[in-house]
Amino acid sequence: MGAEVVVEGLTKSFGRQTIWRDVTLTLPPGEVSVMLGPSGTGKSVFLKSMIGLLKPDRGKCVINGVDIVSCSERKLYDVRKLFGVLFQDGALFGSMNLFDNVAFPLREHTRKSETEIRQIVLEKMEMVGLTGAERKLPGEISGGMRKRAGLARALVLDPEIILCDEPDSGLDPVRTAYLSQLLIDLNAQIDATILIVTHNINLARTVPDNLGMLFRRELVMFGPREVLLTSDEPVVEQFLNGRRIGPIGMSEEKDTATMAAEQRLADAGHHDGSTEDVRGVVPQLQPTPGLPERQGVRRRKDRVMSILHTLPPAAQEGIIESLTPAEQQRYGVHPHMMATVPAGHRPSPTPRSNVGSERIQGDLADIPQSQWQPPQQGPGGGA
Ligand SMILES: Nc1ncnc2c1ncn2[C@@H]1O[C@H](COP(=O)(O)OP(=O)(O)OP(=O)(O)O)[C@@H](O)[C@H]1O
Ligand SMILES: [Mg+2]
Repeated sequence: MGAEVVVEGLTKSFGRQTIWRDVTLTLPPGEVSVMLGPSGTGKSVFLKSMIGLLKPDRGKCVINGVDIVSCSERKLYDVRKLFGVLFQDGALFGSMNLFDNVAFPLREHTRKSETEIRQIVLEKMEMVGLTGAERKLPGEISGGMRKRAGLARALVLDPEIILCDEPDSGLDPVRTAYLSQLLIDLNAQIDATILIVTHNINLARTVPDNLGMLFRRELVMFGPREVLLTSDEPVVEQFLNGRRIGPIGMSEEKDTATMAAEQRLADAGHHDGSTEDVRGVVPQLQPTPGLPERQGVRRRKDRVMSILHTLPPAAQEGIIESLTPAEQQRYGVHPHMMATVPAGHRPSPTPRSNVGSERIQGDLADIPQSQWQPPQQGPGGGA
């Protein structure tokens, strides 16, 4: 199973420029998470901080009991071996062919023989659809192929944690759909903890178990996918629908006068730039038939059901509706529960600034029967 990553109060600045502050989130083991955020909000800086390539000013990032912010160089070197990272620019060595690029971490970090290395490299290159391109130089292949070669290289050390910085950028929609499937299949096969940074709304809606968003130097939200997909927080809604109207502007922040002026134009019928207005929880991508079931999904169900009562009502509905009837029975929940909560007890639909558990607990309704607790595991297992 992939490692859990616990980030607590992480803050990073360059000189006097604070990139983000007090970022707190947990990447649950073996689950897939996506981090969204406008350009320049510090998503790449966040990934680099998680592997200790950049040093945060404050806070912790704990992996297998080691805080990579404060640990020794030696410990950091060991922890880094748990990671497979696909950098935003692919970061391939221009003078090495794809085979040698993908083989690089194995030659650097292991004592494997060239025969073993060859077997692993060819296997990973096949996984990302690059069979036959082993001898090509990075400069001789398309941008999408470079991304996939970067992904193959991220996979060779059998990572427990995979970080992907915009794996889809520069890819056409069909390749992006294949890549989304590849990430889910990969997770089913190796049960790694995966964090993907992307601007691709479709990928964000269909791939991850958890979604988060960075904006204005803060983690606006991070939680189960259903929370962001049903959120009425203006920043999240705007981003997930790719609209101009909303708090996000061309240069990240928009002032109220600009917002009002744009709203007037939109009200007068000027197109707001979005191609669709999708709300609600769309079905999540499943592993290709024939592959093992994703272990993370099973664990996530128990995890999410144990915090269900702390989540906003729309997210609760989305989660309950995604369960099979048998699962609904097991957890003691049923769809449209919110309709049964007396109106006076329903939380108001006001935008929230954070879904971090402590900030939302106060204004949520008590939902009958939804406070499911994990069963005591007997020798026969809990299911
Ligand atoms: N090494 C560095 N030194 C100084 N400033 C940096 C450094 N790396 C990043 N920054 C600054 O940090 C901010 C966040 O950059 P980052 O690359 O993390 O954004 P991003 O969210 O990944 O954007 P994009 O979506 O465009 O990739 C930017 O203002 C950038 O200029
Ligand atoms: Mg970036």
